[in-house]
Amino acid sequence: MPNISVCKISAPVTLATIQSFATLRLRSLQVNPEAFGSNYAREVAFTEEQWRERIEPNSDKATFIATATHMNLPEHSQDVATVTDEEQWIGSVSILGPDYLTKIPFTLPAAFEERDELWYMLVGTWVEPQFRGMGIGKRLMREALQWATGSRGASPPNEVQKKCVLLRVHAQNTAAQMLYRASGFERFEDPEDESAPSDEIWMGYRVQNGDNSSAINDAQE
Ligand SMILES: CC(C)(COP(=O)(O)OP(=O)(O)OC[C@H]1O[C@@H](n2cnc3c(N)ncnc32)[C@H](O)[C@@H]1OP(=O)(O)O)[C@@H](O)C(=O)NCCC(=O)NCCS
Repeated sequence: MPNISVCKISAPVTLATIQSFATLRLRSLQVNPEAFGSNYAREVAFTEEQWRERIEPNSDKATFIATATHMNLPEHSQDVATVTDEEQWIGSVSILGPDYLTKIPFTLPAAFEERDELWYMLVGTWVEPQFRGMGIGKRLMREALQWATGSRGASPPNEVQKKCVLLRVHAQNTAAQMLYRASGFERFEDPEDESAPSDEIWMGYRVQNGDNSSAINDAQE
């Protein structure tokens, strides 16, 4: 059984990290094209700089990856010196903060626009099929939500700011919805929203006062 770890991609991002991430992301788009808004043909053409821009962490965006470390002991060898580690990237999720969301095409559901909250977006959740059902998705969620809890966006240091982490998921994607519910997200009802295709739903996770968090149905508040 390999050793599974979850960690945040840190700066400065190396070429090896870009290559590993690009391989993982392109695989996710090939294995589960139905789960994402983007597609393989678009991203396979990305330059090194585009990948770097996507995963370079800053105070307003972060990417978390899951890795499996396999121990390779050559056959017929009992010598520990011959054991080698092989790291396989097997899952990821990214979280985009409020300032970053102002710089990319992103439309907040109309019902939430006026609310005095910092909005985050969770994107690109994926786990390699052979490693699903082992709690890795949940570990990725936990790290991303913890990061949002600690992140301040552009608000002054002493200001307590309400935050909400949003995501969009296909209505038929039961596995992902189960993961999000198990991680504290709830469905956001926004009947007036026309920004999302009708087969997608919004889910949200409210982070409050830095460390207490709870999911709520915003529209019913
Ligand atoms: C969704 C996905 C990331 C889940 O990853 P995972 O590592 O298998 O999830 P976990 O093992 O952490 O499971 C988390 C919860 O979801 C539930 N779950 C996971 N897969 C499920 C499935 N196929 N059916 C029902 N429930 C499921 C688990 O039971 C668990 O709930 P619990 O803690 O209450 O038992 C993975 O299935 C995947 O990569 N799917 C394709 C890509 C995708 O759909 N991404 C989402 C885009 S919005």
